Amino acid sequence: MSTLRRLVAYLRPHAGWVAIAALSMVGVALALIFMVSLVGPLVKTVLGPDATLPGMSVGAVGSQAGSAVVPAPKARTFGFAKAVETWFDNARAAIRDVVPTDALAVLLLGFLAVLVKNALTYLGHYAFYRAGLATMKDLRDRLMDALLGQSARFYQKRPSAALMSRLTNDVEQITFAVSDRLSELFQDSFTMLGLIVYLFTLNLPLAIVVFVLAPVVVWPIAHFGRKLRHRSYRTQERMGEVNAVADEVIKGWRVVQAFGMESFERRRFREATWQHFRASLKTRKVLALNAPVVELLGAAGVMVLLYWANRQITAGVTTAEQFGTFLLGLYSMYQPVKRLTKVNLALQGAIASGQRVFEVVDEPVEITDRPAARPLPGIREGIRFEGVSFAYEPEKPVLRDFSLDIPAGKAVAIVGPSGAGKSTVAQLLPRFWDVEAGRILVDGVDLRDLELRSLRAAIGVVTQETVLFNTTVRANIAYGQDVVDEARLAAAAHAAFAEEFIREMPQGYDTVVGESGVKLSGGQRQRLAVARALYKDPPLLILDEATSALDAEAEAIVQRALENLLHGRTTLMIAHRLATVRAATTIVVMDAGRVVEQGSHAELLARGGLYAHLAELQGIKD
Ligand SMILES: Nc1ncnc2c1ncn2[C@@H]1O[C@H](COP(=O)(O)OP(=O)(O)OP(=O)(O)O)[C@@H](O)[C@H]1O
Ligand SMILES: [Mg+2]
Repeated sequence: MSTLRRLVAYLRPHAGWVAIAALSMVGVALALIFMVSLVGPLVKTVLGPDATLPGMSVGAVGSQAGSAVVPAPKARTFGFAKAVETWFDNARAAIRDVVPTDALAVLLLGFLAVLVKNALTYLGHYAFYRAGLATMKDLRDRLMDALLGQSARFYQKRPSAALMSRLTNDVEQITFAVSDRLSELFQDSFTMLGLIVYLFTLNLPLAIVVFVLAPVVVWPIAHFGRKLRHRSYRTQERMGEVNAVADEVIKGWRVVQAFGMESFERRRFREATWQHFRASLKTRKVLALNAPVVELLGAAGVMVLLYWANRQITAGVTTAEQFGTFLLGLYSMYQPVKRLTKVNLALQGAIASGQRVFEVVDEPVEITDRPAARPLPGIREGIRFEGVSFAYEPEKPVLRDFSLDIPAGKAVAIVGPSGAGKSTVAQLLPRFWDVEAGRILVDGVDLRDLELRSLRAAIGVVTQETVLFNTTVRANIAYGQDVVDEARLAAAAHAAFAEEFIREMPQGYDTVVGESGVKLSGGQRQRLAVARALYKDPPLLILDEATSALDAEAEAIVQRALENLLHGRTTLMIAHRLATVRAATTIVVMDAGRVVEQGSHAELLARGGLYAHLAELQGIKD
């Protein structure tokens, strides 16, 4: 489906408003044409020699009052123009019954037309904005739905700024095209169409002359526009060069002066400003020529028209009033034509934005529930990695035939050199990524046969980078809970050694922690993360370098908090510092994506392998 068709599909739920808008725009166009058609009668009845308005000499009014509506001498019109004339005659006759003079009737009709036109303009724009803004909301919501369902590989491919720009700029661009440009497209097309039909039916020969002449006037306008765009692009490039030199001098003035390069930089800068000067001058030349040339051509066109009109009027085919109406009608087409040429640009922009938005919306979700996925009630036996292989990028294996057992209720620690794949193991458990070969089993069931929601609900993660949200301490600990169990909250904070500092904060549990928790120290953030995991009370706990960013004292506190968390829980613990893992039931040593050793602290030390080597480096002897 083309992007444009999909964008239109987003408008469909708001079709009612679009219809109201379109109808209003038709009304606006008709009112405008009616206003144009009033020029003749206005000139004749209000400004002409027989004009009669209330407040004039009684005699004049009296002489008018007797006669019925004087039909104006009619020029040859047909079709639409004739119909407009008939509306006018009927309306004037109707109004003439309640107002004293003919001129007043015409004035009132004119005002009425303006009133209707503007009221409908308001309604039309309101309806279009409503549809456009509602579309913007729908698109944004749809995009967010897509983002919420996406997985690690997706986020890895796209910088967050690029995604943000889709949510803001691109959606905005589409809305702009819908509510501003599309409304103009509707209004201007109706106006144009109406005016063209009107002019052709008003005075066919004149209209033919105009539409033969039109390209002669329109072509130079288009030509100047193209030239101007090209030239101003060049000027901007030159300005960029000026800025580049200036930027280097300003930032590097110390170097410039120390090396005595002032005259070199001066020459470079003068060359750049000279180029900019020449390019700007060329742009201004086009700009300065534009208006005079267009006006001259326009005037030449009008001269031809006037000559033609003169012949028609003397031949009795048209009247001066009708010619005035014709000219005004022609003039009224100028703005719509000008705006219509811009619609295409906006539409192209919206389509490009739409493509960027739909690209994200359409991205297939890599990690989803299988059709027969079942919920995970809890962990009874344990977790087993069976010959797991995994790579983030093709041809670069990170885990190779990796096997590991984490018995229920026991803590298993992974240690190993940086880049061994420890964090990768942790990321596979909540299925942020799926394994390539082998499988991961929970109580004998493949992770991929479990409902994603219930799997993730069963896992608590504390990592080195704690993610805190810009909300209260309470909401951060009880993340995702509408109803907060205060007793459990306090218990979690207590066990995480966070109670004390929370109580010292200005509003206690109601203190907002700032974006990513900037108002907290690293250790405090970490303890809130532990409290969050405690509050969640998950059957499986993953600790990935949960204390590595802390100093010794803070680490000791968080370590004690973690011990509260570990108690009898199935745990996967990853750490650099061997001191933090020696309490684990089993320690697994990883290197280059494989398990190389496994055992208790004492067993591994006795083996004299990689673990013993790492222990020696960290000064651990027993
Ligand atoms: N998101 C990713 N995309 C591509 N490659 C990655 C990604 N994350 C990790 N890697 C690569 O995978 C390998 C294992 O990384 P991992 O983070 O699992 O190591 P680690 O054992 O946790 O190391 P450290 O002790 O430094 O935290 C590394 O070579 C790393 O470059
Ligand atoms: Mg890591």
